[in-house]
Amino acid sequence: MQRRKLGPLEVSAIGYGAMGLEGYYGSIGQADAIETIRHALDCGITLLDTADAYGDGHNEALLAQAINGRNRDAIVIATKFGIVFDPDERGTSLTTGWGFSLNINGRPEYAQRALDASLKRLGVEYIDLWYLHYPDPATPIQETVGAMAEQVHAGKVRYLGLSNVTAEQVRHAHEVHPISAVQYEYSLWRREAEQTLLPTTRDLGIGCVAWGPLGTGFLAGMTRVAEDDFRYHNPRYQGENRQHNEERFAPLSDMAKELGITAAQLALAWLLHQGSNIVPIPGTRQAARVEENAAAVEIVLTPEHLARIDQLAPAGLHVETPWCKTRDVTSDA
Ligand SMILES: NC(=O)c1ccc[n+]([C@@H]2O[C@H](COP(=O)([O-])OP(=O)(O)OC[C@H]3O[C@@H](n4cnc5c(N)ncnc54)[C@H](OP(=O)(O)O)[C@@H]3O)[C@@H](O)[C@H]2O)c1
Repeated sequence: MQRRKLGPLEVSAIGYGAMGLEGYYGSIGQADAIETIRHALDCGITLLDTADAYGDGHNEALLAQAINGRNRDAIVIATKFGIVFDPDERGTSLTTGWGFSLNINGRPEYAQRALDASLKRLGVEYIDLWYLHYPDPATPIQETVGAMAEQVHAGKVRYLGLSNVTAEQVRHAHEVHPISAVQYEYSLWRREAEQTLLPTTRDLGIGCVAWGPLGTGFLAGMTRVAEDDFRYHNPRYQGENRQHNEERFAPLSDMAKELGITAAQLALAWLLHQGSNIVPIPGTRQAARVEENAAAVEIVLTPEHLARIDQLAPAGLHVETPWCKTRDVTSDA
């Protein structure tokens, strides 16, 4: 498996996103989930992405079981905090545009509590890459990152990351403590990060971890989802939008066939061609697909193919609504 750098942190060029193991995209048994994570490690994937909020902490516990007995030093554990899932904790409401809101807390005292809980669930002494999941609209990002930096100094965290942030927030945070990775939704159906966020990460020597690299499955051919699926309320999957998106991306499947690869591999290979600091973290519940996705690192696309893809999904494209709209909140009381 090829390697890439997220700031100073070396990881496999493709990581594994564990969120989908928690039932957001359909249920899967615990044994199969553990097996899928282990298969990712066996394929040479070193970067495992989770968050304290996935399955209300259960995803981290699952990961702990999967890495039990493996060489801890060879695994890069990335987790996130900031989405409040304990009903006794306070936070600030953030509307997602997917039919639900999130509750966000980036206060220093919460950061410390969240980290200690993550370490316990993961059964490890340190976390390799610790992200702020979403910036807290009620807490300056400098304050949150200052608290995160204390945990680096305490030896509980190796590197810091930010997720779902603007270029300006990255610059402010990086002045407080070096940021190694910025995680953002980036794929052929959401390219607006190319406008200011990606250039900023390159300027500052920060890695970019692409979440939803398969368009949450759409780019891999999963264009229809069940009513109880997490994606059902995403406007991208609904009515005319869906039809429009199906038509837009159908030529991608044709191109993949032409190249003798799958549509998922084409979407991942395209991302890897957008810069050496980009690391996609596709999620799947199926071991065979882990392998298929990992193999995308070997695919070389010609300038002609890249130009055809650009016509299909132009630079800066943002299909349908933004992932998150921040509600104006001056207090979390
Ligand atoms: N920072 C954030 O706010 C944030 C938000 C969302 C996600 N994430 C992270 O990013 C990771 C990936 O994002 P995601 O899971 O939302 O979206 P994704 O990786 O773009 O797509 C996952 C979907 O694609 C399907 N899939 C995967 N490989 C496939 C293949 N080779 N062929 C056909 N279908 C395939 C999966 O179905 P099967 O399971 O059936 O294979 C699943 O439904 C998450 O696991 C999480 O770690 C971060």
